Amino acid sequence: MYPSQVTLVDVGPRDGLQNEKQNVSTADKVALVTRLQAAGLREIEVTSYVSPKWVPQMADNAAVMAAIARPAGVRHSVLVPNLVGLQAALAGGAATRPDEVVVFAAATEAFSQRNINCSIAESIARFAPVVAAAREAGLKVRSAISCALGCPYQGEVTADEVEAVVVALKAIGVQHCGVADTIGTGTPVKVQAVMARALRHYPLTEVSGHFHDTYGHALANIYACLEIGIHHFDTSVAGLGGCPYAKGATGNVATEDVVFMLQGMGIATGIDLDRLVEAGGFISEVLGRPPVSRAGKALLTKQGRTWA
Ligand code: HMG
Ligand code: MG
Repeated sequence: MYPSQVTLVDVGPRDGLQNEKQNVSTADKVALVTRLQAAGLREIEVTSYVSPKWVPQMADNAAVMAAIARPAGVRHSVLVPNLVGLQAALAGGAATRPDEVVVFAAATEAFSQRNINCSIAESIARFAPVVAAAREAGLKVRSAISCALGCPYQGEVTADEVEAVVVALKAIGVQHCGVADTIGTGTPVKVQAVMARALRHYPLTEVSGHFHDTYGHALANIYACLEIGIHHFDTSVAGLGGCPYAKGATGNVATEDVVFMLQGMGIATGIDLDRLVEAGGFISEVLGRPPVSRAGKALLTKQGRTWA
């Protein structure tokens, strides 16, 4: 039995736009979030409070948070790598305060060093006070475990390596376990095996998948997750995405493609596909290229949109 309902977190404004070489204005970022809200997304990863030297594209984090509307029932999350980031996320008070923060660890030492400049153990020690302070402030704390299905530096990653990080994050009070296929090398049976490790420590309601589509397997991997009851996924409008510290990683699975598949399976998402496709068309126009989303591109083409 598949889940009857699935929650999607659109990570396009963060995972997508962090990876753009061109400048995307704060106004366009805000307009994208507004369109995602209007399309019925109930979880949106808006930005990240990371070092602007490391990821200049997210330097306008506070301005974006200040400008977006905060409709009731929508959870807005931000990435925080350390206490400096959490303090910045909370500095603006109620108007800019996120509903949720995401701490991001890695399943491999090599990626941890490249992405956040410390070992896995150091990252857990660094996150511990962040998690405590965020929960004290009433925020939910979610995690992302990068390279859970393959690493651009180490290569193969074992389920034991992933589970060790799941356990460490749980021990410091992280409430939700996000399993991330950063470079898209995961395949369905392997994904189920890794998810099973997360499910040893977290309930079904608090485990999610984050699949980059570099090798074209993200939808199959989501389907494999549905088979074991997982019903929470990160996806990205127009298939935006990538990590500047994961060479060759391309976009996340497109939200449009996932919604199209789920609709076809009779699984509710609360998302209006037409409005979502419009949001994908909007940001693609801003970026000057067609959406990576196959469903998004097909539906926009049907409406008469052409691509250079
Ligand atoms: P570091 O250089 O080791 O940090 O970077 P530091 O503590 O030595 O600080 C260096 C400078 O950065 C200092 O400023 C700090 O104040 C400042 P200076 O004195 O030189 O002027 N600083 C900050 N500024 C703003 N916000 C902060 C912050 N922290 C320090 N939070 C650090 C360590 C973790 C900060 C850095 O490595 C970093 O920001 N990394 C983030 C990289 C990143 O954002 N990667 C992409 C997101 S993860 C991802 O995409 C994967 C995911 O999608 C899942 C998946 O697909 O796998 C989530
Ligand atoms: Mg990612």
